[in-house]
Amino acid sequence: MEYRFATRMSEMKPSTIREILKLTESADVISFAGGLPAPELFPVDDIRAAAERTLKSFGAQALQYGVSDGIKSLREQIAIDMKTRGVTCDADDILITTGSQQAIDLIGKIMLDPGDAIYTENPTYLAAIQAFQSFQAKFVPIPTDEGGIIPEALDEIAATKPAKFLYIISNFQNPTGRTLASERRAKIYEIAARRGFLIVEDDPYGRLRYKGEHIPPIKAMDDKGNVLYLSTFSKTVAPGLRTGWIVAPKGVRAKLLVAKQASDLHTSSFDQLLLDRYLRDFDNSVHVERIRRAYGERYAAMDAALSRSMGKGWSWTKPDGGMFLWLRGPEGTNTSEILSRAVRENVAFVPGVDFFPNHEGLNYMRLNFSNANPDTIRAGVSRLAAICGE
Ligand SMILES: Cc1ncc(COP(=O)(O)O)c(C=O)c1O
Repeated sequence: MEYRFATRMSEMKPSTIREILKLTESADVISFAGGLPAPELFPVDDIRAAAERTLKSFGAQALQYGVSDGIKSLREQIAIDMKTRGVTCDADDILITTGSQQAIDLIGKIMLDPGDAIYTENPTYLAAIQAFQSFQAKFVPIPTDEGGIIPEALDEIAATKPAKFLYIISNFQNPTGRTLASERRAKIYEIAARRGFLIVEDDPYGRLRYKGEHIPPIKAMDDKGNVLYLSTFSKTVAPGLRTGWIVAPKGVRAKLLVAKQASDLHTSSFDQLLLDRYLRDFDNSVHVERIRRAYGERYAAMDAALSRSMGKGWSWTKPDGGMFLWLRGPEGTNTSEILSRAVRENVAFVPGVDFFPNHEGLNYMRLNFSNANPDTIRAGVSRLAAICGE
């Protein structure tokens, strides 16, 4: 049989990370590749208790189909959490999604016709590139520096290249770990309003800050309905629960709801009820504090190990939170070639090239520091440095 796939599939490539993860399943490999939270810190006992209580209170109802919007009581709790982030909204502004990855996909589905342009940070989140590619979007990458997207560059590019929206990860970005500077948030909001494009603000890592003060998201200043805000329980509770959310203006939320119905009817009723119970009966902020402390230590261990062992010409970002740092090698370095050698030496990372919509940046790599303890991080960095120095 000759399978006649849709044209859009020709632009969709398998995720390098998923391919690398297959190679790194062996226990001998130290992997800095995946974006995995630390499993030993998952609140397993609390989740078990919440699951039992959910089944006791709701019985079969917890296993029944549910509404596409998501469970109201959970949305009410998210609205309270949003307030602590600086965003005023209520339960009816929130749509529960199957992870924030589904939110990205649904936004593509309701906004993008083939050939439509979108602005992104350069580099940006690999799986967002994949999701938007499936809608045959054209990428207009915007230059970034230590403070994230450069507003003047965005304004200049937007003057000649219109786009539907800007996709931006404002805190501890994936892959760079950088945070959009506070004063740039207002500038970017102003440019988007003036030039007439939406902002899709993806914020899975905002609560994982281990240095400095919380910066309110761009959504906090949105009095015009110009920002769609995405977040998730994947990093603050557990990613296997596949529960995230979008805060969207009413007109946009209604379209997202129709798209979600066609996509998966609703996010797991049981997972939502369980999360709702967990958030009411246990103090998630205590759990988040524990994660923050551990990730802060792991970051410090990686930064110190890199300083000790990486050769001249290598530099890296100094994130204030999140799960990643971003290494730059000397000009002429090819991190995809380094990866083949690294995997043979039982250490893995993700080459930077895939995070650039236009496949630049051969000399970058992303390192995850949340998934290994400090001793393992030191051992892995020393293996990596030996290969990079060859
Ligand atoms: C920037 C960004 N957005 C979205 C996601 C997807 O998260 P989830 O679908 O688990 O909520 C991730 C996961 O790593 C991410 O890094």
